[in-house]
Amino acid sequence: ASATPSNRRLVLGFESLPGSMTDAIVVPEGYTAQVLVPWGTSLEGGSNGWQQDIHMTPAFQARAMGMHHDGMYHFPLDTQHASRDFLLAINHEYIDQTSLWAPQGGPTNSDEGARPADEVRTEINAHGVAVVRLRRDDDGHWAPVAGDAHNRRITSATPIELSGPVRGTPWVVTHWSPDGTRVRGTNNNCACGHTPWGTYLTCEENWPEVFTRQGELTPDQARLGINGERGRYGWESARDGEQGEFSRFDNTPRGDDPTKDYRNEARGFGYIVEIDPYDAGSAIYKRTALGRFRHEGCWPGRVVEGMPLTFYTGHDSRNEYIYKFVTKKHWQQSDANRPGEAYDRQAIGARYLDEGTLYVARFDADGTGEWLPLSVDAIIPRGEHKGRRLGELFEDQAGIIINTCDAADLMGATPMDRPEWGTVDPHSGMVYMTLTNNSKRTDEKSDASFTGEGEGVSAMGSGYATAPVNAANPRADNTYGHILRWQESNDDPTRMRWEPFVFGGSASDADNNLSGLTDVNAFASPDGLWFDDRDNGEGILWIETDNGLDKGRENAVAEMTNDQVLAVVPGAMRDDGQPAINAQNQAQLKRFAIGPNEAEVTGIFATPDRTALFINIQHPVNWPAANTEDATQVTQGRVRPRSSTVVIQKRDGGQVGV
Ligand code: FEO
Ligand code: CA
Ligand code: CA
Ligand code: CA
Repeated sequence: ASATPSNRRLVLGFESLPGSMTDAIVVPEGYTAQVLVPWGTSLEGGSNGWQQDIHMTPAFQARAMGMHHDGMYHFPLDTQHASRDFLLAINHEYIDQTSLWAPQGGPTNSDEGARPADEVRTEINAHGVAVVRLRRDDDGHWAPVAGDAHNRRITSATPIELSGPVRGTPWVVTHWSPDGTRVRGTNNNCACGHTPWGTYLTCEENWPEVFTRQGELTPDQARLGINGERGRYGWESARDGEQGEFSRFDNTPRGDDPTKDYRNEARGFGYIVEIDPYDAGSAIYKRTALGRFRHEGCWPGRVVEGMPLTFYTGHDSRNEYIYKFVTKKHWQQSDANRPGEAYDRQAIGARYLDEGTLYVARFDADGTGEWLPLSVDAIIPRGEHKGRRLGELFEDQAGIIINTCDAADLMGATPMDRPEWGTVDPHSGMVYMTLTNNSKRTDEKSDASFTGEGEGVSAMGSGYATAPVNAANPRADNTYGHILRWQESNDDPTRMRWEPFVFGGSASDADNNLSGLTDVNAFASPDGLWFDDRDNGEGILWIETDNGLDKGRENAVAEMTNDQVLAVVPGAMRDDGQPAINAQNQAQLKRFAIGPNEAEVTGIFATPDRTALFINIQHPVNWPAANTEDATQVTQGRVRPRSSTVVIQKRDGGQVGV
């Protein structure tokens, strides 16, 4: 059982920081912050390293850290040195074309006309995932191990296998893969997950934006937001190379035969992607059973011998849903990771991740909730298709997966305020998930369960452009965001109890400050989350924010501080519908670190010994300072910005946060 507020022993041992708006990282007294593996860091080392005026090429970028670091996780090479020598797997979510093409004054034909092929190849190679070995020396200084055999780049052009229900179906047939078994690239990899057998899960979020289709969109294209005219970067406009190298981003049908064009290319995206970081030559798999949408991340639940495994996911769009996947196969400890060894982890991955049940969440007004199965035999509970099976509408599981959001609509899922990261307390199994904000939430009152016939039921392919407030998303025009938590029933894991954990807010917007936050812990737009298990049932919940002014957020928090990292000792559920963090327990929630101007703080884990906390700084505009690894140094004059990992440690080598 988790600790109750009255018997909490864990105390945050630092002073909560006042807000900061500088081009530096701020950390508490007694801590250091080191910049590590910024964009453009060569994984091969040697003399051809990064320079401030480097003109990036496809070949260099394919062997260097990509742009816009986001989710990440650590994979030890052996248990003994796990806190000082490990493989970092890290996502490169998207690109900053201004910084990428700074020496030539910006990208060529970004808005119209044909893009030069090598610029597009470079941009494609700046996306995806990196695996890089990191090591700490005896002075506490971290560095990448250049040329290590594990170092690897996966880009938006790397061949990847499809697995699970969608593999080999007509949905994903293309000219390049006429049998529908493969796709090129993974894109807009946002948050992440990991498995107990030692693989990394990277999650495809805003991938629809790089695709385009002329003419009428299919229902899944419309629902997920494929562009009608030009992709986000116009990649499809480049003069084609081999086998639709660029034209594949244009999903317009070119005749009757889908094996002759790329109408289905985007249906190879929107998945959880499994990578074995221990073998740089291993095949990569998109695990389609976990649903297809704008996947933020994938968070493993409690791991119990002889029980199914659970993975929580969320769809980060306004009024979209929270999901979980429960494996058919029950966990066997004999499948656990053997750190550093090379063997076929993907065969283990296939056994757990290709078969199971995908569920979507409904949060009811009475503080309970239900997981609704998205399977062919699930009975639609409401609306015009009430009483029919999902299989009657979507034919088979592949049809349900391709149209995951529509199936979720039909089953009566609760539309949420943009689900971002989740995390699970490994002892209690309590799940936390951020709901970052929602400008399309209206104050019309409604029951969260949508039991009323037709009420709030969206048409297939449409979703909810706006949705009324409900118990789990109770604020109209939710600019500050909030965090929910829930505990599932041991007897029936399709049932849960949920409560609001904390509401973002600011004392200077007192009417909307539902958790009574102060100047030293006000936050908005929670995004990253990590439950840092410390002491048999107690832990620190770390919260990262993405409230950047660059995204047009105009709220009281954006006026007082840059994006930040907070720490909270959670305590037990209240079960009275009130937020767990309130005016009486502000000391439980402290501001630990603050990022540079206009950047979000994302990606988070600590070493097993908890002496080093790793975070990412994404989309800075004038950071880090040139020629320094000290993240706390204010930039002097404009620099070419580079998203980077930052490692925060105590000067005395002690545990972070306490
Ligand atoms: Fe890429 Fe929803 O954050
Ligand atoms: Ca981001
Ligand atoms: Ca995010
Ligand atoms: Ca975000």
